[in-house]
Amino acid sequence: MKITAYEVRPDEEPVIRNLCEKYGIDVVITRANLDDTTVNLAEGSDGITTLGQSTYSNEVLDELKKMGVKVLASRCVGYNHMNVEYAKKLGFKLCNGTYAPNGVAEYSVMAILMCMRHQKKALYNTNDNDFTLKGKMGRELRSLTVGVLGAGKIGKTVIKILSGFGCKILAYDVIQDDEVKEYATYVDMDTIYKECDVITIHMPLLPATTGMIDKEAVAKMKDGVIIINNARGELLDVDAIIEGIESEKIGALFCDAFPGETGIIHIPHSTDIIRTEGMPYFKLKYLRSFVNVYHTPHMAFFTEEAAESMAACGVDSIYEILTEGKSSHEIPC
Ligand code: COI
Repeated sequence: MKITAYEVRPDEEPVIRNLCEKYGIDVVITRANLDDTTVNLAEGSDGITTLGQSTYSNEVLDELKKMGVKVLASRCVGYNHMNVEYAKKLGFKLCNGTYAPNGVAEYSVMAILMCMRHQKKALYNTNDNDFTLKGKMGRELRSLTVGVLGAGKIGKTVIKILSGFGCKILAYDVIQDDEVKEYATYVDMDTIYKECDVITIHMPLLPATTGMIDKEAVAKMKDGVIIINNARGELLDVDAIIEGIESEKIGALFCDAFPGETGIIHIPHSTDIIRTEGMPYFKLKYLRSFVNVYHTPHMAFFTEEAAESMAACGVDSIYEILTEGKSSHEIPC
């Protein structure tokens, strides 16, 4: 058995190598993303594994098919980048990362607290020897209502952690879960928009959810709402968010993911000249200039625990499918 592992970070490499050695798998490891220029690295492989920056275009998938690749295993939870419909049509088995949700959930709760307690302002000011309290009065979660959009594994973990803070929790999801009901009340999206002081988004990126936080949604929200998006950037309509921040309708925004970040995140860009509207992070740079807008480099997942299990997931998925015909990591569609 042979696999090609793309987008392998240095911290993932020993995990992937050790597991392949244990299973007797030949492995090609590359830092490169899968795309039309690197697809040849999969020659002779039964399966490939990537993270979220790879390009699964029809052409790339056709090429992988011709080479005899059978399994496509993303090590990310999100699989919006995998061209699922066409890949299924070609008969590939598709898997995603099923690492523990705690890292992202804890990060999201941290994000809520940072926004509520004006941490960007506090850290900037203190660094500048400005020890005043101006603009830093916070709120306590016990007095607030938090809305969790998407109460799957990550959303549910956020809800469980938040329950310890004594806030009222409202949840929205298309599938209802009994454990969620112990801590939160399921409502429709409009009720979340209307009643929540904080809204944290944990939805997958699908055609139906793309740009879901648009002008209409923002208009329905409470004045001063705190929005957390540590899921996928494209869930936000950036112009609606900019308008909400400029008008102060949105009290704070924390985003660990931003539209157009694919191909950019986790790579240094500090010397880039950001001059045109066409550049994906042009609007982000403007938004980041606000003291109530927090942006981090898609790192909510990045804990020792999750990183190790993501790397293992990529290898396990391919090994399980090729030896047992099925895997617990198969994409549910
Ligand atoms: C995911 O697992 O879906 C993530 O967002 C993390 C990934 C970008 C490495």
